[in-house]
Amino acid sequence: MHTITQATLKQSRSIDHLVEGIETSDGAGVKLTRVLTGKLQRRLDPFLMLDAFGSDDPDDYIAGFPDHPHRGFETVTYMLSGRMRHRDSAGHEGLLENGCVQWMTAGRGVIHSEIPEQEDGVMEGFQLWLNLPAQRKMAEPWYRDFPSAEIPEYVTGENVTVRVIAGSSNGVAGAVTRDETEPLYLDIHLPAGATFSTALAETHNAFIYVYRGAVQVGNTRVESRRMGILSNAPASDGVTLTAGEEARLILIVGKPLNEPIVQYGPFVMNTQEEIHQALDDFRNGRFA
Ligand code: FE2
Repeated sequence: MHTITQATLKQSRSIDHLVEGIETSDGAGVKLTRVLTGKLQRRLDPFLMLDAFGSDDPDDYIAGFPDHPHRGFETVTYMLSGRMRHRDSAGHEGLLENGCVQWMTAGRGVIHSEIPEQEDGVMEGFQLWLNLPAQRKMAEPWYRDFPSAEIPEYVTGENVTVRVIAGSSNGVAGAVTRDETEPLYLDIHLPAGATFSTALAETHNAFIYVYRGAVQVGNTRVESRRMGILSNAPASDGVTLTAGEEARLILIVGKPLNEPIVQYGPFVMNTQEEIHQALDDFRNGRFA
């Protein structure tokens, strides 16, 4: 971990609008908040979904996510707290623990399970779905776990701690890079009174999700458990956040693919025909 001098911006993006997630459940009954839903997929291209989960009641998470398929995109699970076992049909297995990131490229298809390995305590984290470009949707599946110690971190002069899960921020390269979608994924911890800035590519879509405290972006206050979609203003070269009280949030940014999005549950392709093919391949055991 090292201290860096953060970017001086000409102009910060502002909050375009605030989104309150939808309480739902998925898998075998895991309670979660779906923050990025289908109707925001075009606005937040290349991101398809963001779920936030967090509970200290085992009934809310214990059943986990038994075997289910994916095709056509990548899943990024960030475990703030808890223990979850991953197994997939491509032969990958991993234990996700406090502060760890799991990055899975489903590509042409995997069947996997995500099952808690704890019977009490807190389970908290996020699952993000990142789209693949048309020419990579049928790529070979790929999988990697990054234990907490392998996630690059830096601290600013104002004692803001930043974990760089993907992309690059203030000169610090993250755990994962992707050429086509150029994702930036930061977990940012601000002490009370601190300000944080990072440069953002002006063509990219961006949002924050606050999970502790509250932050101010321009004139807008973003409370805990709220997503703030950042404006796409050509004159803005990044984002500046200020925390009146101690705050934690994730910042997620990506380059839009501008391709058709056709989703049927866990399959996200470009055409209806490719969805029919995915269902046919899955039903006939042609996934990895
Ligand atoms: Fe999954």
